[in-house]
Amino acid sequence: PTARMTIDPHFTVGEIKRNLFGGFVEHLGRHVYDGIYEPGHEQADAEGFRQDVIELVREMGVSTIRYPGGNFVSGFRWEDSVGPREQRPRRLDLAWHSTETNEIGMHEFSSWLDKVGSEMMLAVNLGTRGTLEALDLLEYTNLPGGTFLSQKRIDNGKKDPFAVKIWCLGNEMDGPWQLGHRSADDYGKIASQTAKAMRQLDESIELVLCGSSSAHMPTFGEWERQVLHHAYDDVDYISCHAYYEEKDGDTASFLASATDMDWFIDTVVATADHVGAVKGSKKKINISFDEWNVWYQARFRDVDRIEGLDNYPVAPRLLEDIYSVVDAVVFGNLMISLLKHADRVTSASLAQLVNVIGPIMTEPGGPAWRQTTFFPFAITSRLAKGEALELKLDAPTYSTKEYGEVSLVDSVATRDAETGEAAVFLVNRSQTESIEVTIDIAGLGDVAIAETHMIHDEDIYAKNTLEDRERVSTKPNDSARIDGGTLTVTLPPVSWTALGLA
Ligand code: AHR
Repeated sequence: PTARMTIDPHFTVGEIKRNLFGGFVEHLGRHVYDGIYEPGHEQADAEGFRQDVIELVREMGVSTIRYPGGNFVSGFRWEDSVGPREQRPRRLDLAWHSTETNEIGMHEFSSWLDKVGSEMMLAVNLGTRGTLEALDLLEYTNLPGGTFLSQKRIDNGKKDPFAVKIWCLGNEMDGPWQLGHRSADDYGKIASQTAKAMRQLDESIELVLCGSSSAHMPTFGEWERQVLHHAYDDVDYISCHAYYEEKDGDTASFLASATDMDWFIDTVVATADHVGAVKGSKKKINISFDEWNVWYQARFRDVDRIEGLDNYPVAPRLLEDIYSVVDAVVFGNLMISLLKHADRVTSASLAQLVNVIGPIMTEPGGPAWRQTTFFPFAITSRLAKGEALELKLDAPTYSTKEYGEVSLVDSVATRDAETGEAAVFLVNRSQTESIEVTIDIAGLGDVAIAETHMIHDEDIYAKNTLEDRERVSTKPNDSARIDGGTLTVTLPPVSWTALGLA
């Protein structure tokens, strides 16, 4: 089969914000303890952070990192995580049935962020706490000084404010599993009130309203409408969360997961714009896609579950999915979907980073390594610059159980107008056939192929494991050629390709 497309720099979708390449660190399982932080490890620096992990996070090119949860945040008292370490309380983490030692808190995490070169995005607890506690935290992090809480930060060793720019107003408040789960009406009211109060303190912050925790929640759509009805004027973003997994061996549908993400984004944008229209507002609400990934939730439900009043372990192994080639292809396609919507998805956070559904894995006392999903993130984050371009794509289709008739090829192109550098990201969802794609790039002027990267393997379930840490990596796609104004590239079955043009 063949496919055709045209890349024209005049047809732009929108500017690609660096925040699109964000991550997420939750106090969950072995993410923080025995993940980014392992004081006894030979790679630990003076603060106990693993330098091999720091190097890998830097290599991934992660912009903003959402912290400290997730479901964890709905039971979190931020005050526990600051001040002298020996005085910090051990607390129950009901979300993950674990014990939180608070050895790592705001200050330590901020220091780690400086090492990996990322910025902090914080979530406030609107599950079991409210407006006052959110204000206290904002005063602690962002006020230069002169008050009890800002002085406390200074006494705790941080003279300059943390200057946190983006704040999530709670986490997944539509989910019945959430501590303090609320109705859309209740949440909309407290979110609006908290947002107003936080902005009264610091008008420079950006605020994220909780949207649905998946497009398949029973309240999806109506939740967005109601919470935006309350908080439209007070926030900048509404959140989307989506996780995909291969179910019951239905690889064809799994490979088409990004069509669901496309639909999710388009639907939330339409809902937000509808509320704006009803309000007669010119303001646009953008999307913070602040949790997205491949996640085998069935494994979490059946294998990881911890129970018992006397069983709240510290840093248990939770959500430690080991990703395959097909997972990485779907993952790369999810990034294509985010880029295709760069005009309205202006912030996103890969959930999560280390050990917990992470592109990076570690073994206590042992090595750190790249999962298959590491590669599409790192390469897309490095190559996708400037503006996302709208493509004219003409490709054959295939039928899926979940999403009906779906294109076999998905793609997005990006271009940096300042340097003239461009990139094309493509997936082939066919499980049996290679597809030759012919791309009209005359509009890009005189460019050459500067680099090519491909994820493809005869065994689509090949993985990187502790025993075989480099089984899967990227290889060049040597089929890519430019002839005049035409680029051709062959995409093998179940593959993801990135082309850098300069
Ligand atoms: O990322 C894992 C969990 O998924 C987060 O804690 C929660 O927000 C979501 O349900």
